[in-house]
Amino acid sequence: MDKKLLVLGIETSCDETAVAVVRDGRHICSNVISSQVKIHAQYGGIVPEIASRKHIEVINQVVESAINDAKITLNDIEAIAVTYGPGLVGALLIGISFAKALAYGRELPLIPINHLEAHIYAVYLEHPQINLPAIALLVSGGHTEMVLVKALGVYEPLGRTKDDAVGEAYDKVAKWLGLGYPGGPIIDQLAKSGNKEAIRFPRAVMKRGKYDFSYSGLKTAVINYTRNAEHRLSSTDGLSLAGGLPLTEVPPLNDIVASFQEAAIDALTNKVMNAVKDTSAVSIIIGGGVAANSRLRDQLNEKTAGKGISLYIPSPVLCTDNAAMVAGLGFHKYNTGKMADLSLSVKPNLKWDE
Ligand code: KG4
Ligand code: ZN
Repeated sequence: MDKKLLVLGIETSCDETAVAVVRDGRHICSNVISSQVKIHAQYGGIVPEIASRKHIEVINQVVESAINDAKITLNDIEAIAVTYGPGLVGALLIGISFAKALAYGRELPLIPINHLEAHIYAVYLEHPQINLPAIALLVSGGHTEMVLVKALGVYEPLGRTKDDAVGEAYDKVAKWLGLGYPGGPIIDQLAKSGNKEAIRFPRAVMKRGKYDFSYSGLKTAVINYTRNAEHRLSSTDGLSLAGGLPLTEVPPLNDIVASFQEAAIDALTNKVMNAVKDTSAVSIIIGGGVAANSRLRDQLNEKTAGKGISLYIPSPVLCTDNAAMVAGLGFHKYNTGKMADLSLSVKPNLKWDE
């Protein structure tokens, strides 16, 4: 029988300072997220040094808010769970240092959490019973990973991106097109009015690792396509072609982003469905910021319809980086004795088997 526990979770692996209180791995008492997205937007992407500085500035206050929102005091907390990797080294260090100090000062157990495993756990916060095995697809600005979930805590990594993460490709394409940051939601919205078949952008074929992903080629294809079109449009030579099309037929921006999105999402859903088939998985779990993508959701709904496969996508607030998933998973790690001592250090490249 699991011991009951009130866990404080701390998450600082990227650009969100997040702290949550979760009871018994299920009940979210508070879930406070301080996002730095507006700060990094000025630079068109995350600046690691700034991320660390901002975490230091706000972490005290975010912890205080999480305690207040949960209507408890620090004395009620029974364990501290903290993300120790993967992520940005300087950003992770802030969360870890804070968690260690708190655990030491209060004589509380310290529970190290793998950020990606926490993204998988996010679905358990809303669905305690998930049919396994499941294919988990974790897609964000920093990650594009696919794993087979055999049991909570038992994973087989299947594939990952060999270059850019899918969210990163969205952000870079949006930046190139002057659409703003973060690019994902902007492109998702703009693509709704576009023709996704206007341009056939490449879908990466991996020579090795059939479940691996690659997004830098797609990003470059979009950049080259628009560069050619722009060049030819601005040329006075009325006979030139834009991306192989007569000038009058250069697709509008919404068609370009819809076509980019279709290629980006096709690559994800095709590989997920192949993995489901190969492993006889009965569920699909999606996590990370890109899980909010409407085309990803639509394609997965279409592809799983009538096949008896359960599709789990957390609510938006639990898809993006948060500490409820950290505190929730902390409960299970505690009950299986996965605690750390104060020598715990960050693991920016933490692997599934560590
Ligand atoms: O998980 P997250 O909040 O932060 C980390 O990257 O860790 O994910 C942010 C990423 C960004 O790259 C953003 O552009 C992307 O998720 N994103 C989306 C959408 N909403 C956020 N990508 C595609 N479609 C969306 N609707
Ligand atoms: Zn994340």
